[in-house]
Amino acid sequence: MITISIANQKGGVGKSTTAASVAAEFAMRGYETLLVDGDPQANVTSHFLAPDQIGTSIADVLIESEQREKLPLEAAIVTTEMDHLDIVPSKLRFARFEKEPAIAINRLRSKLAPLASTYDFVIIDTPPTLGQILTTPLLASSHMVVPVAASPLAQDGLDDLMSTFEEVRSTNPELILLGMVCTMFDGRTAVSAESYRSLKERYGARVFETIIHRNVKLEESPAFHQPVQLYAPNSRGALLYSELTDEILKRLGARKNKGKLKLAGEETRA
Ligand SMILES: Nc1ncnc2c1ncn2[C@@H]1O[C@H](COP(=O)(O)OP(=O)(O)OP(=O)(O)O)[C@@H](O)[C@H]1O
Ligand SMILES: [Mg+2]
Repeated sequence: MITISIANQKGGVGKSTTAASVAAEFAMRGYETLLVDGDPQANVTSHFLAPDQIGTSIADVLIESEQREKLPLEAAIVTTEMDHLDIVPSKLRFARFEKEPAIAINRLRSKLAPLASTYDFVIIDTPPTLGQILTTPLLASSHMVVPVAASPLAQDGLDDLMSTFEEVRSTNPELILLGMVCTMFDGRTAVSAESYRSLKERYGARVFETIIHRNVKLEESPAFHQPVQLYAPNSRGALLYSELTDEILKRLGARKNKGKLKLAGEETRA
């Protein structure tokens, strides 16, 4: 099981859109995928579910101080209209997770562990903050993908994110920065081109070749509770996220083998 957190404490950079679109792409390619909404704003949940479809949420599973019994993650998993894609929804109440004792940061990791043979991929959407609501998913992850908006101030704060990443790596050394993806790119503006250029200059090969351009279908799809692949399958937004998923799979060295996910180097294992 590969667990990827989509993280950047800067708001509105395309984290939830990336989480929803990449999760949908994995599912369409036949990978068993679980999308975990780790943000109290519940934006990625709304890419798949209407509010009346949300019962038990991540808050019920991870906030133990308010509940009588400890729930497994399965208690909050719901299926989506897409084959191979399940979701753990979020609710505003999850904001209270910040008030849980520090030990709570290990809960997501331990609650995901029993699902290791059920899912090929877990994608976790994270909120625009740096507290334990971010360290918790990073501690549970093998990889981090960072969307960075193509705007002049977008790279401010990346150092803080990388400090958090390094801090988490001291307890979860398997965590790898899979890459940074330039989002919200507007081909008509010089600032977009300049922002991408400076991101490449600073982070080099860690920046994915795929650039996610601004696309109105990506903006519209959450209102219809559909990922872009269902809402507008032929749109540029859907195509770009398909290309990004190709790159992610390539970096992971992943390939399907008789319905099971295989990674480079795993050939010798049973
Ligand atoms: N490539 C794009 N083109 C046009 N609109 C986009 C694109 N990506 C995201 N959006 C829209 O921009 C807004 C912010 O995107 P998104 O919610 O994915 O960002 P976020 O980083 O998750 O935000 P937050 O930090 O608040 O969680 C949303 O309304 C989304 O639909
Ligand atoms: Mg978001």
